Amino acid sequence: MAAVKEMGQLLRMLFEVEREFVRTVAVLIPRVGNIELKYLLCQHVWESAGHARFISERGRELTGFGKGDAVRESYRSIFEEAIRVEDPMVGLTGFYKVLKPALLDAYRHYLESTHHLADWPSRKLVEEFIVDEERHLREMDPYLSQTNDRDWEQHLSIALDGLGGWLGESDRKALPEGFDWNWEELPYRHPDTCNRGEYPLCSSVFGHDPESDPIVREWLEDPNTDARVVRLMVFIWLMMELDAVDYLSPIFYDTTDAPFDLHYDLARHLWDESRHSAFGYRQLPKLKVDLGTLEHSLDLYNILIQMSPPERYAMMTMEFEAGSFATKAHVMDRVRELSDFEADTLLAFDRNDEQQHVRFGHRWLPEIMRLFGEEGSVEAFVESSRKRFKALEKEFGGKTPHSLSPEVRLTGNKLRAIAEVA
Ligand SMILES: [Fe+2]
Ligand SMILES: [Fe+2]
Repeated sequence: MAAVKEMGQLLRMLFEVEREFVRTVAVLIPRVGNIELKYLLCQHVWESAGHARFISERGRELTGFGKGDAVRESYRSIFEEAIRVEDPMVGLTGFYKVLKPALLDAYRHYLESTHHLADWPSRKLVEEFIVDEERHLREMDPYLSQTNDRDWEQHLSIALDGLGGWLGESDRKALPEGFDWNWEELPYRHPDTCNRGEYPLCSSVFGHDPESDPIVREWLEDPNTDARVVRLMVFIWLMMELDAVDYLSPIFYDTTDAPFDLHYDLARHLWDESRHSAFGYRQLPKLKVDLGTLEHSLDLYNILIQMSPPERYAMMTMEFEAGSFATKAHVMDRVRELSDFEADTLLAFDRNDEQQHVRFGHRWLPEIMRLFGEEGSVEAFVESSRKRFKALEKEFGGKTPHSLSPEVRLTGNKLRAIAEVA
């Protein structure tokens, strides 16, 4: 059984690398400002979680894969190191010029090492993942060309050379004298606010004043609102789910010792929110909205990042998501009047995804509470999280001034004018 055991061990290593990639690369998402880049990272996080999932299912059929989901210290050190860098774009090059290409090498090594017939089930997976990894590097390439920090790439390469590559397939090189692990000195901290690059900002896109706010709450419910205006407002709402992308991303890192199944569902949740945001991001320009006039709302990130991970996850799933269905159902009915099949489809998938997210909440909130030593009932915890959110809202909410004057920025009244001509 030596051959089986050896391949099982290599699969275990690949599983751990994919899992650590997901856990750590996600912290870059709120830190990078390019919207398309945020979406791409969410997609890679999801696909990498998928690799880890399939590898662990196959691995558990083989002697040698081992039990549990834990990651070895030597891998953890390298991934912890990879996020101890000031500039997130430099951080990105570390992942995509060093750690991911090494993962591609590791998959290729696996394919060369294993028996094509005996280990065919693993081979099929690995062949597919090689194609994915090559594509990931290609997809990220346009973003990497903007930066060029050879020192950081070299630093991570040296750390990885200490292992001889992820599978120990190359020569191990002892770490040079004086090599410093930054992560040992420097605790990781999520940023107090999220990066939206060149986009104008505000505290919230929801309000009551059509001269000032793009989503006028009363208009969403009012049967006399033109359905075309409702459609524009719901696409803005969806696009601003980018805040969920930014405040959900840190939870992987915050729950380092969580079972992998939790991170797998979080990865799905994250990718769903990025697609919901993309629904708005892609449709609004087609409906004649200039995205340069749409301010991005930062309140939810700014408030929620002050809360503990279980509180943040409780607010997200049990309050915002669970509480959104009634209004969204009404909005879906109104949009249906327009015979806009694509809009109907996007809203229907959004609704289905959100129902799934609430189910994730029921499944994982007790687990995240447990990881943070929260005792007591889930209901009581959700209630106390609501109270704390209200208190923190006073302190951290409403602090982002409008980047644009009411004359320039997108408002309810401007949406009305756009709807007339679109
Ligand atoms: Fe969503
Ligand atoms: Fe959601």
